[in-house]
Amino acid sequence: MVELLDNQRTFHIQVKHTSLVLHVLPTGHVTVIYWGKRLESKSLAYVIQDIGRASYISDTDGIKDFKLEQLPQAMPTHGNSDLRTPALVLEYADGSRITNLRYKDFKVYSGKERLPGMPTITSGEEVETVEILLEDYLQQVTVKLIFSAFYEYNAITQSVVVTNLSKSNVTIEKVVSSNIDFLDAAYDVCYLSGAWGRETHRQVRPLSQGAFLLDSKRGASGHGQNPFLALADKQANENSGSIYSMNMVYSGNFQAIAEVDMHQNTRMQMGINPFDFAWQLVPQESFYTPETVLIYSDQGYNQLSAIYHRFYRECLMKSSHAEKVRPVLINNWEATYFDFDKRKLLSLAKEAADCGIELFVLDDGWFGKRSDTTTSLGDWQPNHQKLGGSLSGLIEEIGQLGLQFGLWVEPEMVSPDSELYRAHPDWIIQVAGRDPQLARHQYVLDLANPAVQNYLITELSTLLEKENIAYIKWDMNRNITDSGSSYLAVAQQKELSHRYILGLYHVLEILTEQFPEVLFESCAGGGGRYDPGMLYYMPQTWTSDDTDAIERLPIQSGTSLIYPPISMGCHVSAVPNHQVGRITSMDTRGIVAMQGNLGYELDLTQLSTEEKLLVKEQVVQYKEIREIVQLGQLIRLTEIENQNQYAWLYRSKDATAFVVSFVQVLARANTVPKRLKLAGLDAKAYYQVGERICTGSELMSIGLKLDKPIEDYAGQRWLVKKIEK
Ligand code: DGJ
Repeated sequence: MVELLDNQRTFHIQVKHTSLVLHVLPTGHVTVIYWGKRLESKSLAYVIQDIGRASYISDTDGIKDFKLEQLPQAMPTHGNSDLRTPALVLEYADGSRITNLRYKDFKVYSGKERLPGMPTITSGEEVETVEILLEDYLQQVTVKLIFSAFYEYNAITQSVVVTNLSKSNVTIEKVVSSNIDFLDAAYDVCYLSGAWGRETHRQVRPLSQGAFLLDSKRGASGHGQNPFLALADKQANENSGSIYSMNMVYSGNFQAIAEVDMHQNTRMQMGINPFDFAWQLVPQESFYTPETVLIYSDQGYNQLSAIYHRFYRECLMKSSHAEKVRPVLINNWEATYFDFDKRKLLSLAKEAADCGIELFVLDDGWFGKRSDTTTSLGDWQPNHQKLGGSLSGLIEEIGQLGLQFGLWVEPEMVSPDSELYRAHPDWIIQVAGRDPQLARHQYVLDLANPAVQNYLITELSTLLEKENIAYIKWDMNRNITDSGSSYLAVAQQKELSHRYILGLYHVLEILTEQFPEVLFESCAGGGGRYDPGMLYYMPQTWTSDDTDAIERLPIQSGTSLIYPPISMGCHVSAVPNHQVGRITSMDTRGIVAMQGNLGYELDLTQLSTEEKLLVKEQVVQYKEIREIVQLGQLIRLTEIENQNQYAWLYRSKDATAFVVSFVQVLARANTVPKRLKLAGLDAKAYYQVGERICTGSELMSIGLKLDKPIEDYAGQRWLVKKIEK
């Protein structure tokens, strides 16, 4: 909800527990005067009047002591008396680069409009939007700041629209989706970083004077850094402290900055990466930024996660599967890699069906003449020789075993050795006259080109119409180099990275609308594009190519900071593990994979009878708890979580059942087992854990008994159920 104060000069954007307040100065500059715990207030203009001014910065508009650099601004532009990092940089036809925005108008309405061509969170009840319009009178450019308040979800979204009302082209060199200035700097930055195979490790480090920058220049949000940035109180932990966060609904190059100036103010901003970016805005056209999600928590990281998880599950993911429990799957990748034939696939499927698995996923290598990474991407015709007949025949036989069928594709790529490349060598991203770089023996298709988009839509919809496919794994295995498009005009070359993502969204929009029943899982060599933009279309992501249970602990824990467990693909794989050679028990592998969306990715036909029995039992147990894990609320139990121990609790929607899991990485000599204190229970209610009945307060204050770890990588899991007594 949006409340107007101070003669309509102050916009109090409120959700259930959070306020974000913007205020228009008499000069027309728009400031952000507050973000945090929800306020009750009738006037807030005094916050700005009370700000002390430092020297050595120019006065603005000839007004003595009026210094923009000292003011917390909502859209600081290049060329004024604020010499910190700008949020907007435009270049005009006359070569000038100064933009001087002043307030013009506002509009408040209920609901929220879709951003053209981009994922937009529009569902959810009680949404109210405020648009604040700014104008550069000289250059005839307007900038609209759009904030939407999702009251019940404690979430605010923001995007920005730049419109060219002049008669000449304007070049956008930078425009962020959000800029929030804080009047202090005593924060830690929290972010998720890593690499292929070890994505989304949670990092926390102190801010100090200077700029802290996170970004991706890879053409994808990337394995390295997630489009997420938080400023946290120095003492913030899982259960207490204030945290201010931004997460961008975008899958391409992004930049996030936390900049502390010389007077201990902090600027936090996030948007499309200005690196290798420039957009020609022609007269009468508008440019829309992707949106950011602004979430504030006053009770630490667990509350932050709870807000994100519910908001993303209920409002972001548009798939019909968003809130449905997901099938347990078997994926043949680590079981066979490229080396399979019909006989192998069917025996794997048969074992899977015996174990109660519900979905068979045929991974890479089923099309063209692909039996390694050197060939056939782009030729999405089934390889009848390898499949021992038609794809439909295989799907039917797998269906007869009682399994649904899923298929891997990597549509954005093309192999040089493919019919598609031979027919359309100009469809790849490249710079004429230079040899484009290969990675994993493949080129990236130029998705900025509508002909490429249409080709992908036709190919994939033909496949999905013809075959009985319940699930698609959409992979993307290399980043973009050689940034150049033969489709785009010379002046538009720096638009490629954004236009690529817009092209991808267009393809996904059409396919997901056309095939609403298909469950799409996004993958980019694991979590190389684990972002809200992809989750909008595809409600689950393959979390990481690293399937080792122990490596997965920090990866899944970090991912769970923002993204809901139902979105995390987590598989039990073979030992020794294929990425790190580690040997862990089937039990521990199961416990870790059951933290998210359970699957299996190993050759079940090679398991001993005893191991097969364990798999069977796991599948039964998971089916019993999956609704709690996938649709409940996750609480990371920090009292015990540290580098050696990880513990999670999932609370069912109706708070009557809880799944608790614990893994200790290394055993230590001569230690005494401790207890694991739970959270989120009703103190007075009674709960059954195994044979024992305890009150909620006992479980939260005394806790569950942990076994003495007698070996490395030991895990335990409990199901706690509320009972009437
Ligand atoms: C990378 C994915 O992350 C893997 O799971 C697998 O699908 C391979 N690509 C196939 O090439």
